[in-house]
Amino acid sequence: MHPSLRITLAAAALLALPLAARAAETANTTLLVDIDHRPATSLNGDWHTIVDPYGDGLFNFHHEVNPRGYFNNAQQPTSTADDQGPVEYNFATSPTLKVPGDWNTQRPDLFYYEGLFWYQKDFKYSPKPNTRTFLHFGAVNYQSYVWVNAQKVCQHEGGFTAFDCDVTSALKSGDNVVVVAADNTRKADNVPTLQTDWWNYGGITRDVSLVDVPQQFIDDYDLHLSRTDHSLIEGYVHVEGAPAGTTVTVSLPELHATTHATLGADSRAVITLPVKSLSLWSPENPKLYRVSLASGPDTLEDDMGFRTVEVRGTQILLNGQPVFLRGVCVHAEAPYRTGRAVTQQDVDTLLGWVKELGGNFARLAHYPHDQRMTRTADRLGIMIWSEIPDYWALQFDNPAVLVKSKQQLAEMIRRDRNKASIILWSVANETPNTQPRTKFLTTMADEARKLDPTRLVTAALLVRTEKSATGSNKIVDDPLGAALDVIGANEYIGWYEQKPSGADTTNWDIRYQKPLIMSEFGGEAIAGRHGTPDQRWTEEYQAEIFKHQILMLNKIPQLRGTTPWVLMDFRSPRRVLPGLQDNFNRKGLISDQGQKKQAFTILQNAYKNKTVGKPE
Ligand code: GCU
Repeated sequence: MHPSLRITLAAAALLALPLAARAAETANTTLLVDIDHRPATSLNGDWHTIVDPYGDGLFNFHHEVNPRGYFNNAQQPTSTADDQGPVEYNFATSPTLKVPGDWNTQRPDLFYYEGLFWYQKDFKYSPKPNTRTFLHFGAVNYQSYVWVNAQKVCQHEGGFTAFDCDVTSALKSGDNVVVVAADNTRKADNVPTLQTDWWNYGGITRDVSLVDVPQQFIDDYDLHLSRTDHSLIEGYVHVEGAPAGTTVTVSLPELHATTHATLGADSRAVITLPVKSLSLWSPENPKLYRVSLASGPDTLEDDMGFRTVEVRGTQILLNGQPVFLRGVCVHAEAPYRTGRAVTQQDVDTLLGWVKELGGNFARLAHYPHDQRMTRTADRLGIMIWSEIPDYWALQFDNPAVLVKSKQQLAEMIRRDRNKASIILWSVANETPNTQPRTKFLTTMADEARKLDPTRLVTAALLVRTEKSATGSNKIVDDPLGAALDVIGANEYIGWYEQKPSGADTTNWDIRYQKPLIMSEFGGEAIAGRHGTPDQRWTEEYQAEIFKHQILMLNKIPQLRGTTPWVLMDFRSPRRVLPGLQDNFNRKGLISDQGQKKQAFTILQNAYKNKTVGKPE
């Protein structure tokens, strides 16, 4: 029998299943909070891989669903039985790639690959009594399907947020096998959509591990400093699998503070923890406390800073004091080797450059970064703008896209809500000013506040330009601004419009009495290319842009932050100028090989001497 025919018959059986049964077959994922503080078995390392551009691991030759859901390795490729037919793939003899890591930069033949891609890894496991085991993924870009021992355990959509698959019932004692299908195909109804100005790095781009938890375990919590009482930590702890009335204990040993609470019917315990002489987290004092949480057999520890952030008129207040955010935009591009940034070394380099710049702030563009970035920002005292990839022309009139966008927002907030460094959730970047867009993103802003009322909501907006008698007016009147706490505005005077000196005759007309962050500005330069300040692509030209920008920015009374585009050159398929871009966007203050451009020094002087922007 033709192998595909065999699959067809079985597929017919599967398709006859009621939808609910099939839906149940794609088990949902959950998201364990503080996962990096739980003991884990890493599955990082070499995984066998199969490139599958025509989807033969999922579908047969009539494009019907493969009932086993993946390359079914049950048969041996050397099958001799006549009716078996050839099995035309074999993970064991297929090439390996490193996990975590995008496939694009690991093999030249995969540089531009967009499509379905298979990973497989054998691992040993010893089940422990009374525990549940989750298979944790830091991120898989973009769509992922996961099987353990040929049993489908979960699937996930979204390329930059973590997820956990319950594999308790699928695991065996001894030898196990995990198979992951990752698909980075860009689609119009994805988040982000078809066009972005960054490389579509595909694959298991972040850590993979097995995490054991007790049958009842702490899966989510929120602990934050009260905005009205700086001696009170409040929030909640959610315990999965525990009955109402179960006790939860939260303590902060360094301050000899402990509180007990009980779970309600929603498995949540409301926490109020009075603390004396708490040292508030700030860039000047990035104090982290060891926090212990316990419920039944589960204990968890976290390292947390406590601070408040709010707006008052056009000011941003950190711990009640006006603050100016001296920042820079950062893509998750790995310094030197390029590709998705994921290692602690990548993070230390990128955030080390922010500190070297004299920055106290970073805009993590345009998607949630690896958790190491926000953990390290907590430790270094770098405030963070964290963003979901609601980028450019999303399908804002498609309800399914709103569901995906809300899912990614919830996953971003759930993973990082206990990181003091994050002060802003951003719901969008440079989206078209249409009624469906404004409705969609206003819903997203409201959703962010509902999920986390302790932070500020922002977005990077496009601004209008009008000619004036003396130069030009930049008008910030995007209706989305009404839904934001802090307005982000992108402009490229000196690069996409006018000469650098055009900034000298630009007036800003901000139609909102809210804090403004200039969330993008700058221009391209090749590190080491020199010329006169009027020669584009030279370091001198880029430096000229920054000199004029800083003078203009200082004329904007409600400016409360600056994040020029961008810390480091990064890959983009849209940047194809030979000898200048070569698939890189060169607006970095630093090249992808770590060469600092003159503009870095211009901005560094402004930040270190505090000659740009004022907090009040
Ligand atoms: C846009 C966008 C960035 C892009 C940049 C540029 O504003 O937000 O993602 O890379 O401008 O054109 O370089």
